[in-house]
Amino acid sequence: MDLIVTHTNADFDALGSLIAAKKLFPHSRLLLPGSPEPAVREFLSLFKDIIKVESENECDLKGIERLIVVDTRHMSRIGVAAKLIEEGIKPIIYDHHPRTEYDMDPSKDIYQELGATVTILLDSIKRRKIKLSPIEATILLLAIYEETGSLTFRTTTKRDVDAVSFLLSCGARLNMVSSYLNRELTEEQLAFLVRLIHSTHIVNINGVKVAICVCREKSYVGELGAVIHKLMDIENVKVVFVLLQVNSKVNIIARSHIQAVDVNKILKHFGGAGHTAAASGKVIGADPEELKEKLVKLLKRNVKIRLSAKDIMSGPFAIDVDTKIRDAKKLLSKNRLKGAPVLSKDGAVLGVINTRNINKAIRKKFGHARVKGYMFTKIEIVKPKTPFYAVQELISSSGTGILPVIARGRLSGVITRSDVLKVLHQGLIVDKRIKKGRHPILNLAKKMNNSLPKKIMDLLRLIGDMAQEKHYAAFVAGGFVRDIIMGVKNYDADVVVEGNAIEFSREFAAKVRGSLVIHKKFGTATVVMPWGLTGKDRFKVDMATARREKYERPAALPDVEFSSLRDDLYRRDFTINAMAVSINRKNFGQLIDFFEGQRHIESGVISVLHEGSFIDDPTRIFRAVRFEQRYGFRIDSPTEELIKTAIKKDMFGMTEKQRIREELILMLKEEDPMRAITRMHELDELRFIHPKIRHDKRSKELFKSISDACHWYKGSFLKKRAIDTWLIYLMALFEDLDTRSTRSICERFVFRRFDKIRILSYKGEGDKILRFLSGSLALPASKVYKKLRGLSYEVILLLMAKAKSDRSRKAIRDFLIKYNRTKISITGNDMKEIGYSPGPSMGRALEKILFAKIDGKIENKTEERKLAKSLIR
Ligand code: CTP
Repeated sequence: MDLIVTHTNADFDALGSLIAAKKLFPHSRLLLPGSPEPAVREFLSLFKDIIKVESENECDLKGIERLIVVDTRHMSRIGVAAKLIEEGIKPIIYDHHPRTEYDMDPSKDIYQELGATVTILLDSIKRRKIKLSPIEATILLLAIYEETGSLTFRTTTKRDVDAVSFLLSCGARLNMVSSYLNRELTEEQLAFLVRLIHSTHIVNINGVKVAICVCREKSYVGELGAVIHKLMDIENVKVVFVLLQVNSKVNIIARSHIQAVDVNKILKHFGGAGHTAAASGKVIGADPEELKEKLVKLLKRNVKIRLSAKDIMSGPFAIDVDTKIRDAKKLLSKNRLKGAPVLSKDGAVLGVINTRNINKAIRKKFGHARVKGYMFTKIEIVKPKTPFYAVQELISSSGTGILPVIARGRLSGVITRSDVLKVLHQGLIVDKRIKKGRHPILNLAKKMNNSLPKKIMDLLRLIGDMAQEKHYAAFVAGGFVRDIIMGVKNYDADVVVEGNAIEFSREFAAKVRGSLVIHKKFGTATVVMPWGLTGKDRFKVDMATARREKYERPAALPDVEFSSLRDDLYRRDFTINAMAVSINRKNFGQLIDFFEGQRHIESGVISVLHEGSFIDDPTRIFRAVRFEQRYGFRIDSPTEELIKTAIKKDMFGMTEKQRIREELILMLKEEDPMRAITRMHELDELRFIHPKIRHDKRSKELFKSISDACHWYKGSFLKKRAIDTWLIYLMALFEDLDTRSTRSICERFVFRRFDKIRILSYKGEGDKILRFLSGSLALPASKVYKKLRGLSYEVILLLMAKAKSDRSRKAIRDFLIKYNRTKISITGNDMKEIGYSPGPSMGRALEKILFAKIDGKIENKTEERKLAKSLIR
């Protein structure tokens, strides 16, 4: 027989876990030790015929062979069941509280950091397709809702939300859940709450408001959690510690709604346990005031504000108080802002103006008025050190959505709603990644060793060591990391250093004797190694700076140090391109993946990092398509929506055309460019190049023939003349455009001169030559030669792809293989000897000799001489 036990003072997660575990261990009895919380007691009294749980008095431990412990891992909390452990039974534990050194010694320990223990058990229930009755589902739902504050606590995970949806599908009743959760406090609890409020002190710990209550009671009060919740609401605090003395014991109960305070970590010093957001402990025979002192000291040491206003604010953009409304509108729109602080002549912040009140003024025809009369004057302000959570609160309560950051009476920055949202979005992911380790931090050193040439590895290590000497952290990032993970060859490294990249790249280039190009405008530099690695390969390193943090610990990589790198990565295009790998010696190869890049590679998803990505850089629309088609991935639907919105807003119209041209070229350089073009067509993007670009069966077939022609050319024994395959595809894309439109595209997108000449020569000549080649008469080889010799190989291969008849195709092939390679042996000296004098007539004669040789009329030098002699006459 099995026994399932939970902790004393059981809440709904404990009860729910008992019920859920019973589904997994059907031959078991359930034990509820000590006395449960009043709400659970009340619930059980109603359902005692359905839910069979034993109290400690009723429970006979004889014959128990297996012990399952749920929602706790401490022996002191399982009542009489602890005897079984003393007898040597090793329990199976299901718990969402983190492991500690004081835990029972389990035979199996299923620990997952989820909002509720019930969610862990539900996973197995779902997997084993075990049915739940509506009442069982309701209890489990109650458990998750209570434990996660109705899915609002920061410990809530996606899996808890999934579990809720599953339980609702099993018939769980939400109305019953809310009647149990939103119960009014009892009179006894209310009286206790009043006593608690009187004994509460608010202390400021490194910028975080913490409530500490020290009180003495004669006996325990039920459902302390609900009372503490109310206390937090009333005191408007995110962190509370209650030190409650009953007889000789001091119970410490702690709750924290912010990441900066991990109450589990703090309460460990008092022998307590729990999780980051809720924990409790008990100290016997101590003076609560002394405990409070110790607590404050511990908090000062442990509460680390990871982010404050200065970390998220942007440059201090402001509007002068005398600016006219319509000018303010232009200024905001030019800077893509929704609002800004308004400054007096001497730089004092007088208020905030936003687009909403500007538009209102303009609607009322007050565009000529000054912002002074329309700005908000009752505004919230913050200091650079204001913690992020306080910024978050203030921004939601401020009507303007703008928080000026003031240092020494001056505007030092501005925080907008989107700055806060950005952090919230990143914060969620950072936590899952780095703190909770749900995606273990991967070290890619081995993979890099296996996939990159040794020389590149040596260079990366050299960069890491050079950075280390300067106490910089250095990383490789972007597509280079993506391709390491995917096992794709890529020798273009993108290096981010937390220091001056330009200065650093100078030293690096000097050391490796690489060529250096500095891009002053962007603060970046490119170093290209002078040697080849495998034949024509070269190693290119782009270097950029990431703002350096004041926590200077280059070897270790604590969360806080990532923030500058995180900023850099956050500005990138897609999650799969926003990973970095440390190249400092100490943690060489450590993958830093804030935005689920790894997971998106695994699941084949192209996803932007934030909503403004395509607004920041519309060329990413092309990139999204390119990566999607290159790797056979899928643009996720939110990203696709953002693409459509950007297109609607005509973002391409505002983009530098050269950048669009470069992206188009990159797209056409892909292995199978038609896939990307088809996707561009689906997204209605082709019209940005030209509205008449056609995408139909014919264009697809043409791309296919081009690919065949290029394959033939590359596979032929011809001495290779490098060809720009992308240009052939580009000309095919312009197939339906007339010469004027083609010329105007070339000019609009600023195609290089040489490219433009090739494109236009095809437009002018292409069809005529094809008609000539496919004419009814068999053509002498020299005539074909004359027609084709002036054309670039790109145009010739396009003609070959387009040629309908075998005869024309053969003529072009022969031109490439034979005619164009025909050389005459006769020299200028021979010609002089025969009697020619240098000049056009000698040139014309040489040409005729060549034509005769191409046509097979003559074969060797003697015959060439003979012909030369006959021509002179
Ligand atoms: N990047 C970006 N937005 C762009 C272009 C580039 O965010 N419009 C970032 C991405 O992180 C990208 C990195 O800069 O990975 C390097 O850009 P690039 O060399 O152009 O692209 P790769 O991702 O390396 O792609 P490819 O394999 O095609 O070279």
